Amino acid sequence: MRTPADSAPTEPTPAPTEPYAGPTEPYSTPGPPDQEAEHRDPGPDLDLDLEPNPTPNPTPNPTPNLAANPDQDPGYPAYRRIVARSFGAWYGQGRDSWTGDATGEEITRFVQAQMEARPRAGAGAGAGAGAGADTRTGTGTPSRRLRLLDVGCGRGRQSADLAARLDADVTGVDLLDVWDAPPPARGRVRFVRGDFLGHTADAGLLDAVVDNGCLHHQRRTDWPAWAAHGARLLRPGGVLIVSVFLSPVGEVTALPLEDGRLNWWLTEQAVTGLYTGAGLAPAGRAVIDRDFRYRGHRLFYLALAFRKADG
Ligand SMILES: C[S@@+](CC[C@H](N)C(=O)[O-])C[C@H]1O[C@@H](n2cnc3c(N)ncnc32)[C@H](O)[C@@H]1O
Repeated sequence: MRTPADSAPTEPTPAPTEPYAGPTEPYSTPGPPDQEAEHRDPGPDLDLDLEPNPTPNPTPNPTPNLAANPDQDPGYPAYRRIVARSFGAWYGQGRDSWTGDATGEEITRFVQAQMEARPRAGAGAGAGAGAGADTRTGTGTPSRRLRLLDVGCGRGRQSADLAARLDADVTGVDLLDVWDAPPPARGRVRFVRGDFLGHTADAGLLDAVVDNGCLHHQRRTDWPAWAAHGARLLRPGGVLIVSVFLSPVGEVTALPLEDGRLNWWLTEQAVTGLYTGAGLAPAGRAVIDRDFRYRGHRLFYLALAFRKADG
């Protein structure tokens, strides 16, 4: 993502996390008749207090720099509103350059490769897709669709793409209801407005959790809970894929925007520590050139995959 940001190369001390169990607001895209997305009743309002048409040039620095000064941390619900307002403004102004970009396509392919490389449960030596095993379940038995969660799905392009490529059942969750992706030709997609940490419906049921560009906008204090929540949603053998801004300076670095939203540059060590700390095992990595320079650095995305042990 190409974001102007002020650098604050600090590493705030992690503080105890605040549990959040907010509501989600389910929504579904209409799909082709035979792949009609599931529709659930609308849930309670998220109370994000968003302006329908965000001001193009918000007043600079209306919120504290919580990366530099954790004492001014507004707390999780207020920070969530900051993030939602910030992204709402970016989408509203068409500044979401990350939507459908080449980096996203590479991450989609990385996810696809991870799903296809999964150990095949019940498959002996020589067994596999070519031996009649099912490419979706990895077993020789009749298939069910893979179930994926796209965390911070934004406009939902990647959710729809993953559904089509993997013939999967994909749920996209985002604080904002900006999804406008056309329905996939294959598989199924539905969108839920809500906070990832409040999304508990799929606990223990998902084959994959995909977090493309969401973790690095969260408060550092929330990272362990964020990783643990992703791990909790996976079924045994499931895979979590996370992509973040890779720190070009070799250390975790905060780059808060003037509107209060955090951007973090992360290191492989930090991300690996978070997800192994949540009980997952490293399963793959990719470094993706964002073809973008910032503050004299050529910037890259780091995509990492982690696997939950088989049950
Ligand atoms: C950089 S965008 C990436 C969007 C999408 N993954 C893509 O690649 O096109 C980050 C998205 O995460 C969403 N987001 C941030 N914090 C979130 C949270 N706590 N729960 C759900 N979505 C969140 C934002 O609203 C935004 O749409």
